[in-house]
Amino acid sequence: MEKMWAGRFAGALDKEADDFNSSISFDCKMYREDIRGSMAHATMLGARGIISPEDVNEILAGLEGILADLESGALAIDMDCEDIHMFVEAELTKRIGDAGKRLHTARSRNDQVALDIRLYLREQTANIIELLRELLAAITDKAEENKSVIMPGYTHLQRAQPITFGHHLMAYAMMLSRDIGRLEDAVRRMNFSPLGSCALAGTTYDTDRRMVAKALGFDGITLNSLDGVSDRDFCLELMSAYAITMMHLSRFSEEIILWSSWEFKFVELSDAYTTGSSIMPQKKNSDMAELVRGKTGRVYGNLMALLTTLKGLPLAYNKDMQEDKEAVFDSIVTLQKCLSVFAPMIATMRVNADNMYRAAQGGFINATDLADYLVKKGMPFRSAYKTVGQLVALCIEKKTVLDELSLEEYKKHSDLFDSDLYESISLETCVEKRISEGGTGRASVEAQIRYIREFLDK
Ligand code: ARG
Repeated sequence: MEKMWAGRFAGALDKEADDFNSSISFDCKMYREDIRGSMAHATMLGARGIISPEDVNEILAGLEGILADLESGALAIDMDCEDIHMFVEAELTKRIGDAGKRLHTARSRNDQVALDIRLYLREQTANIIELLRELLAAITDKAEENKSVIMPGYTHLQRAQPITFGHHLMAYAMMLSRDIGRLEDAVRRMNFSPLGSCALAGTTYDTDRRMVAKALGFDGITLNSLDGVSDRDFCLELMSAYAITMMHLSRFSEEIILWSSWEFKFVELSDAYTTGSSIMPQKKNSDMAELVRGKTGRVYGNLMALLTTLKGLPLAYNKDMQEDKEAVFDSIVTLQKCLSVFAPMIATMRVNADNMYRAAQGGFINATDLADYLVKKGMPFRSAYKTVGQLVALCIEKKTVLDELSLEEYKKHSDLFDSDLYESISLETCVEKRISEGGTGRASVEAQIRYIREFLDK
């Protein structure tokens, strides 16, 4: 196929170099955006009298036809074209002749690709936000069901203080709600049209960039033409927001994997989201959660790759920037797939409340509460801390727990102890007394659930 830029060249491009240079195998994903952008551009050219109304009509009808044929499958994208922009223009010219050749007036592929990718990311990020909202709803429902289920809370993966499973789940809901905020912020900053920046310096035609921007749902235009075609900071911002979201999903996955183990048995994932082993008949593996954890690596990698690609580039456009797309597209697809399995995996996860409770009972998870008991009777916290430490050591020596130690023994350590101590260190009390805002007490967890539901209603 003859290149659009063939005029300047005497010889043909080497076949392998041609393949190397081509981006159509991945930028073909943006055909809708490319066509929409061209329609807005042609309409503007007509409105400013740069091309005739007849040409505009032919271009719009031609582009609509191409879009319809691509959607129906009647037309296939020609993978011999260099990129999607050249394919659409060549196909248009094939269909309508000279009018098609007028479309690229006052435009460059540099501003065209900068436009297309913004439109594409806006659309895909809206889809990611929708998937995140579905996951948030699933987590919140699970939390509601489990707001009275007591489990050990951990620090350093050592049993620390009792909490409810609902409270634990809502921690992830808070994180994911901030992820949505980060994505919305990044889209807000990205949502300015670069079209009309042209190759790098703007154009001598009397264009109306704001008209195009408005037609395509942008909040305005980029104010420096070099910046408009040169920066990909919006890709990086979104990719870092995607990476942070993956980090949250990965931590959650790690816990699900741990909780599903024979040692914990806190939860059981549905058969629909686990796999067996080819050799060990007893196995039920949390592959989906492991893959989410594993794929976090590539989403981090994509961010690092594009940061590195951009770091030494002089203004304005350089072909290096074609590398933005595979990186950002891969992060998007990966995140979408992870979210699509995560929400139903959570919704169908069975919770083993008895095992969680038993795990909370075993250790000295109520030691802080015993110290607080003494504090409330007048002992300074540091002294209470020390007394309880000695009691814990005694229990370990006697192979017992705080709940089983006799009152007589307690009194040897402090005469502030009385029989009400047992009630105040029961797991239920430990949880229910944590009434501070954001704590694990029931009212607080209910408030958290309300907050996320209101967030989802907005
Ligand atoms: N395929 C190119 C890209 O993705 C489009 C822009 C090409 N511009 C150019 N001056 N060669 O970046």
